[in-house]
Amino acid sequence: MQSDPARPESLVRSVHRALERHVRTGDIALDATCGNGHDTLRLARQVGDTGCVHAIDIQDEALTQTRLRLQAACLGTRVELHRANHADLSSVLPASVRGRLRVAVFNLGYRPGSDRCIVTRPETTLAALQACCEWLGGEGALSVVAYPGHPAGAEEAARIGQWANDLIPRGWRASWTCPPDGRRPAPRWLWLVRQ
Ligand SMILES: C[S@@+](CC[C@H](N)C(=O)[O-])C[C@H]1O[C@@H](n2cnc3c(N)ncnc32)[C@H](O)[C@@H]1O
Repeated sequence: MQSDPARPESLVRSVHRALERHVRTGDIALDATCGNGHDTLRLARQVGDTGCVHAIDIQDEALTQTRLRLQAACLGTRVELHRANHADLSSVLPASVRGRLRVAVFNLGYRPGSDRCIVTRPETTLAALQACCEWLGGEGALSVVAYPGHPAGAEEAARIGQWANDLIPRGWRASWTCPPDGRRPAPRWLWLVRQ
């Protein structure tokens, strides 16, 4: 996740710390909203040269930005880019990945610097999250940063909360983190791990 003025540093640090602890060399990771490629690049570093990252975005420009960022870091070969709706991830990811994803990362909302009409939507986000549950391996994790500060974002965050609560009795551990900066409504981060 990139740092920008709209995103509190403490939340960014929490997400990065969790990913650094969780993702190991050789893992397979998914960035379901690659945007400008900051998260994809971090994941590419973490999986090492024996791992792989699949990065999805619905915008051509997002894939271009991500590709350029990876090339600048000489890490393009660790990442497979997919122009797709993440709701369709089950037909996008190679079958060999099913049940082996170590982590899936969602940074919701719109791509900084782009058309704000191209934004994640509750229906497709929930479809993608649900699909991820089938693609994650044992102890696999989902990281979701949601932005309730825009109209669709409030509904999206609320519905993700309900969805995550329903997973807890089914063997998942969920934690929500909201930054302590007093902003209303603040971005929030869901960390969900299969037990
Ligand atoms: C906040 S940005 C992601 C930022 C990115 N993680 C980074 O590190 O730069 C959200 C991204 O989600 C993408 N997006 C929106 N709806 C999508 C969908 N249904 N499927 C895939 N990507 C989508 C947008 O195009 C946008 O690039």
